[in-house]
Amino acid sequence: MAFTQYKSEIIILMSVNKNCTVSALEDAARTLISGNLVVFPTETVYGLGADATNPNGVAKIYKVKGRPTSHPLIVHISSLNNLNIWAKYIPEYAIKLAKVFWPGPLTLILQRSEIVKDFITGGQNNVGIRVPSNPIALSLLERFEAKGGLGIAAPSANLFGGVSPTSAIAAKEDLHHKLSNSDRILDGGSCTVGIESTIVDCTQIAPTILRPGAVTSDMIKNLLGFKLDLSFDYSVRIHPKVSGSYKSHYAPKAQVIIDGNPEVGDGLIALASTLTPIGVVRLAAPETSQEFAKVLYEAYRLADIKNLRKVCVQLPTGDGIELAIQDRVERSAYKPNMPTDGLAKSLLNNT
Ligand code: TXA
Ligand code: MG
Repeated sequence: MAFTQYKSEIIILMSVNKNCTVSALEDAARTLISGNLVVFPTETVYGLGADATNPNGVAKIYKVKGRPTSHPLIVHISSLNNLNIWAKYIPEYAIKLAKVFWPGPLTLILQRSEIVKDFITGGQNNVGIRVPSNPIALSLLERFEAKGGLGIAAPSANLFGGVSPTSAIAAKEDLHHKLSNSDRILDGGSCTVGIESTIVDCTQIAPTILRPGAVTSDMIKNLLGFKLDLSFDYSVRIHPKVSGSYKSHYAPKAQVIIDGNPEVGDGLIALASTLTPIGVVRLAAPETSQEFAKVLYEAYRLADIKNLRKVCVQLPTGDGIELAIQDRVERSAYKPNMPTDGLAKSLLNNT
């Protein structure tokens, strides 16, 4: 497997394994089977995983993250072949999406099978399923399934409402004081995509994007030929069960300003073509939109490490992954005391 040659920096965390070797992955799979937690890399962000059929294991996720239990979790599986275990009445267009974009940064919301319990879905009849493409995630899934596991429930490995971790070090910073010695953290280096998966609701006749990501609406439209409902635009509609649809989310402690001019002492995240004014702290200078997505959350974390008060983000333009970047930055810029457009206040105070 490719992961055995993986060259990333390996760190030892908690009572953890030395690295992402075969024995470390076997140990992590056993950890899940025994009802404990494993933080693991995916291509999008790091996940905080538990056996998706184990209520005690899943309860630990909610406790560690500080997340309301009404908030559903994505179940990760190793292959499209296992989708029938978790979902039923799967529309043909969902199969088409899975065949093209799995393994990869796409989550499908489908009608749940009998195996899916309320503790995964927050009581909803639907379940989110994803096959990640990160080789360490896939190997963990395969080893877990070989031991009788069926799927790994995993939200992003950060505290509820905060910035998703794109490295094991960032996940450790957020969670180490909440994990136990029986839990594990696998280090697979930096995530290649850097923002969370695209979530597509496949429970209706036509698909709806609930959260934009690296699988863009154009990619989906071109494959399926559907006109897509972009419900992630919260000025159009709020889907209360998608945490990313809280207006305030993915937020660093620093105040995020979109497209403003940074002053001395402020942070700046912008494409490399934008120069850094004197006295401004450059947090990231990505060359492309893809790279922008990859470094955004690390740049937010750097702003907090440096105790910056304000971060200006100059958004890249475009209607591909740029829409996902825009979505995350807008939510991170939003503060609950900003004027609302009729959105229930209770939805806003969850950072
Ligand atoms: O890229 C990702 O999706 C990462 C990696 C670890 O896979 N996971 C992730 O999970 O971002 P999380 O829980 O932080 O965000 C996923 C969102 C949740 O906020 C949840 O509300 C929504 O997906 N979701 C999960 N199941 C759902 C369902 N059945 N219906 C609607 N939304 C759902
Ligand atoms: Mg999350």
